[in-house]
Amino acid sequence: MINRRKQFEYLVSNLKDIPEENVIKEKNSVKRSPYHQRIHIESLFGMLGDPNGFSYFNGYYHLFHQWFPMKYSINPNYFQQGWFHWKSKNLVDWIPVGEAMNNDTVFDKYGVYSGSAIPINNKLFLMYNGNSWTNTDTDDWHRVPCQLGAYMDENDNVTKMIHPLIKGPISGYTGHFRDPKIFKKNGKYYSIIGVQTKAKTGTVLIYESQNLKSWNKVGEVKTNFEKKGYMWECPDYFELDNKGVLLFCPQGLQSKGNRFLNAFQACYAIGNKLDFRNLYFESKEYEEIDSGFDFYAPQTMSTPDGRRILSAWMSIMNSNSPLTKYHYDGCLIFPRELSIRNGKLIQKPVSEITKLYTTDYMENKVISKNQEIVAGLINCRDIKFDVSTKDNNAISIIDLFANRENTSHLRLVLDKMKNRFIVQRIKAGIEFEDEFGTERSCNLKAEKSISIRIIQDISSAEIFINNGENVFTIRVFVPKDQYHIFVKNLNGEVNVQYKIHQLREMNS
Ligand code: FRU
Repeated sequence: MINRRKQFEYLVSNLKDIPEENVIKEKNSVKRSPYHQRIHIESLFGMLGDPNGFSYFNGYYHLFHQWFPMKYSINPNYFQQGWFHWKSKNLVDWIPVGEAMNNDTVFDKYGVYSGSAIPINNKLFLMYNGNSWTNTDTDDWHRVPCQLGAYMDENDNVTKMIHPLIKGPISGYTGHFRDPKIFKKNGKYYSIIGVQTKAKTGTVLIYESQNLKSWNKVGEVKTNFEKKGYMWECPDYFELDNKGVLLFCPQGLQSKGNRFLNAFQACYAIGNKLDFRNLYFESKEYEEIDSGFDFYAPQTMSTPDGRRILSAWMSIMNSNSPLTKYHYDGCLIFPRELSIRNGKLIQKPVSEITKLYTTDYMENKVISKNQEIVAGLINCRDIKFDVSTKDNNAISIIDLFANRENTSHLRLVLDKMKNRFIVQRIKAGIEFEDEFGTERSCNLKAEKSISIRIIQDISSAEIFINNGENVFTIRVFVPKDQYHIFVKNLNGEVNVQYKIHQLREMNS
């Protein structure tokens, strides 16, 4: 049981209310970290959580995130929480704008939780969850979740609406009612919201509104698959390639073979477009969006040219990340473009990544034994491998983040005998989250050629298999001089082609 009184002993509603020297202490600790990312948005200090309000407005992409700036402060451990704002012209260079919202009203005193955004005329409308508690003079605190509204103007100033849009808790459900994702359909506004039923199962509700002020509950989305988990967080719904896509984060799933191995999961289901009258969503089984160790709380937006782009938190809750020692943690994934192929969700790094390309390295060769690939002295690259073989028992290994002796590395294994792709983190620097296993894998079709693309940053790898059919998002903490890449084959002859683009740091 979380001791709420202790958690909120030093509750403040604004960073400005904290002595400056305490804030400076946090900022200075972060500077000491050797693991800073170059092309990913990460927390300036304290903890970064879910991406929020991902949108395009006033000539910029806007991306906010959950921010707990004093999360790792000691003596005292302050609690302050809100949304931090970044904006970008091109999805790759992000400017830190600053805090967008703080926990400074009665409805969000204990946290400006997750939410979303939609442009309305010359304003950006934000819909989010405010967390507060009652019964705080007893040991039995009750959560009071309200869905709240705010407007951001063209100068990036946010004004909160005074009255809640939806007051919770609502009848039939517990206090776990949060993460509204707003969208427009047939001239009406809709919001899909995560919730827990009184029977302690997770689901999502749809609300509708004509004017953004009064919201009516349409009902629960019914699915043909069994709803598992005790709470569904961070839902999203969108239409893509003539299909409906539901994203949700069911908490409390049992792991099943190689699936659902992380502490918490982020899933998708593809089906026919949602019928907004009866709210029945028929789809095949749901799947994990990402097969790696570190992926949660996805949120999508639609670009002016019609692409559906995904952001997510490159972490999971409960992580004992080595970054906390430097008083910061958490980053967002590199934005991904979504599409659907053969009923599967396909993810690719956004094409704007080419704006970061500097030096290129490429080669096409038959690799048999251990071979080092020379590709610069820094782990910040877009790496594309094409591995082909006629040998059904070939096993190819790609080691990234390797030291010179190649005794420490993140290992990728292509096993043609088992038709599996495997990632092993066990020897990749600092061990963390090991209680959830050190290996992740997926099936590979028995094809002659397999493509592997890796977006590598100082402390992460996002690995795209066969043009984005499977993705593995992984944090890795190795010393800076572990920038080597080795390739080898254990059985048979394999042709390995590669193209590697070094990436410049994002401008911010
Ligand atoms: C998911 C989540 C959301 C909530 C937010 C609070 O990571 O628990 O459900 O709105 O984080 O930071």
